Amino acid sequence: MILINFKTYPQAIGPNALKLTKSLEEVAKGFAKVVVGFAPPSLELAEVAAHSKSPIWAQHTDPAREGQYTGYLSPDDAKAAGAVGTFLNHSEHPLDLETIQRTADLAKKTGLKTLIFARDPEKVAEFVKLSPDFIAYEPPELIGGDISVTSAKPEIIGEAVKAAGNTPLLIGAGVHEKTDITKALELGAIGAIVSSAVVTAPNPQEIFTNLLSGF
Ligand code: G3P
Repeated sequence: MILINFKTYPQAIGPNALKLTKSLEEVAKGFAKVVVGFAPPSLELAEVAAHSKSPIWAQHTDPAREGQYTGYLSPDDAKAAGAVGTFLNHSEHPLDLETIQRTADLAKKTGLKTLIFARDPEKVAEFVKLSPDFIAYEPPELIGGDISVTSAKPEIIGEAVKAAGNTPLLIGAGVHEKTDITKALELGAIGAIVSSAVVTAPNPQEIFTNLLSGF
């Protein structure tokens, strides 16, 4: 499984969100066995979901119910907009444990999958108790850089996989080439979450093809 997190990169906001999704979906057709998902910015989620057959994820949701929650991103709304799941607690949008729990509960109730980000194996062990559908291990200091988590911290990935137990674990941070994927799978992860290497690439299709060939 590979998820592409669009963040708020200019290459992936406004009309670019759907264009990028479509161009990456073209590549994904050649790798039918890999589950490929996209996390567009919140304001583009509905449009991307309406024109895409891929699983579309919300980058974040809040513990907001129906009604008086001006400006919040509710799990109900993400679901109605076409999301299959929601990310929670990305290191760029950290949440306290209670907020993660409340939002994850609301997400589950509305039928959204949950993916919780963890910065280290200790956090992975803590989040397993919340029964998310996925956990993503991402060391924050490697995000957006050229050194991937698989080359800098292979032993910690092993520990994170162990801490995750039966919860499927993805890895992310600095993932940019095929060997990052092969290494992640070898260490017991089910795949990766990638952002800058694909989204900001001069040729995103080329990088994405290379990453998918690692599965
Ligand atoms: O959620 C994925 C992300 O934080 C990894 O970012 O740019 O290192 O691929 P990047």
